[in-house]
Amino acid sequence: MFKLSAEGLNYVQSELTRYETKQSAIIRCLYRAQDENGGWVSNDVINALSEAMAIPAPQIEEVATFYTMFNRKPVGKYHIQVCCTLTCGMMGGRELLALMMKEAGVKEMGEVSKDGLFTFSKVECLGSCDTAPMLQINREPYTENLTFEKGLKLVQDLRTKGGKLESQISKEL
Ligand code: FES
Repeated sequence: MFKLSAEGLNYVQSELTRYETKQSAIIRCLYRAQDENGGWVSNDVINALSEAMAIPAPQIEEVATFYTMFNRKPVGKYHIQVCCTLTCGMMGGRELLALMMKEAGVKEMGEVSKDGLFTFSKVECLGSCDTAPMLQINREPYTENLTFEKGLKLVQDLRTKGGKLESQISKEL
């Protein structure tokens, strides 16, 4: 059973005062709750937010289901979202994604690797086309100007330096 932390509840209450309607706070509160639930939005998360925000659960579920940044299934410690839209696609985004998945031992998009570390998603343009191909890990700053070699090294580094912050690893690439 998911419960927001005391800090999480305070966060939700403060977000509720920021907007004209309570519904406008749903996205930010979902981000918070997803983070507290290991990176995904379960039905328990939706119910907990519904109670904390006094908003019907279906309204929260609609938002969680519509936006791709909310995961409705468990993900690995590193949710690697590779852009495969036009510019990134032309610069090898799809091949990069396939290579990284193979390196991580993951066969399907959305699957969690056996070691619990990796989940991959193909995402639409993240607005950084001039640094294609690029990806985002969890909610970290973008990892950009990738090559196949850098992508493979990224997976290897995340596996061996698992305790490190993703942003630290990205800077070393
Ligand atoms: S096409 Fe990949 S960031 Fe825009």
